[in-house]
Amino acid sequence: MHTSSTILWEELPSRCRDTVKELLEFARQTQHFIKPSDINQAISRTLFLLENQTLFQNIKIKKNLKPSLPLVDADIHQMNHVFMNLVLNAAQAMEGKGEINIHTDLSPRKHYIVIEISDTGPGIAKDVMQHIFEPFFTTKQEGQGTGLGLSMVYSIVENHGGSINARNRKEKGAVFTIELPIKNKDSKGVIDEK
Ligand SMILES: Nc1ncnc2c1ncn2[C@@H]1O[C@H](COP(=O)(O)OP(=O)(O)OP(=O)(O)O)[C@@H](O)[C@H]1O
Ligand SMILES: [Mg+2]
Repeated sequence: MHTSSTILWEELPSRCRDTVKELLEFARQTQHFIKPSDINQAISRTLFLLENQTLFQNIKIKKNLKPSLPLVDADIHQMNHVFMNLVLNAAQAMEGKGEINIHTDLSPRKHYIVIEISDTGPGIAKDVMQHIFEPFFTTKQEGQGTGLGLSMVYSIVENHGGSINARNRKEKGAVFTIELPIKNKDSKGVIDEK
């Protein structure tokens, strides 16, 4: 009788093999491995990992990525983590049905890259909004979420000298906006005006 469930790496379909490779690479924990990074590429890579998942079957993802954005000094693995968390949150809020828009651009004075992730979900209630970036804050049922997602996103963005905020759209849904400085200043605090 064949009892082993071992599958040889070569037996995996190539698309699946690529996904596993990506996932392993994605999960690699590198501490502050800052180098000039392509944010559009990090977003595309995150979407590649997510778009075939069941949760995304009835979600339309629209990318509107500004071509030839300057590179930002960033730990690309941590950035992957940021986009993964925000896109997952959006999909979960919409309960797997709706539209996610991802937009990148340069700030008017070209000192920041601006990333906007919006959804067509229920949005965020006022009394929830003030807590969303706190560690362990979740509105999900017990066992469904740790409430660590956004607090990690917040600290990663902050470590990169950037900022993140959330608001509700005039229409349905929530919008998360991240600003990342194109060149990180060594000294803390003073970042060029936008
Ligand atoms: N796009 C969104 N639309 C509506 N509410 C959101 C959205 N993103 C986050 N939230 C709210 O913010 C809360 C905190 O999010 P966070 O990612 O920190 O934790 P979580 O998603 O609940 O748990 P985990 O990330 O561990 O799975 C969520 O429980 C939800 O109430
Ligand atoms: Mg989350």
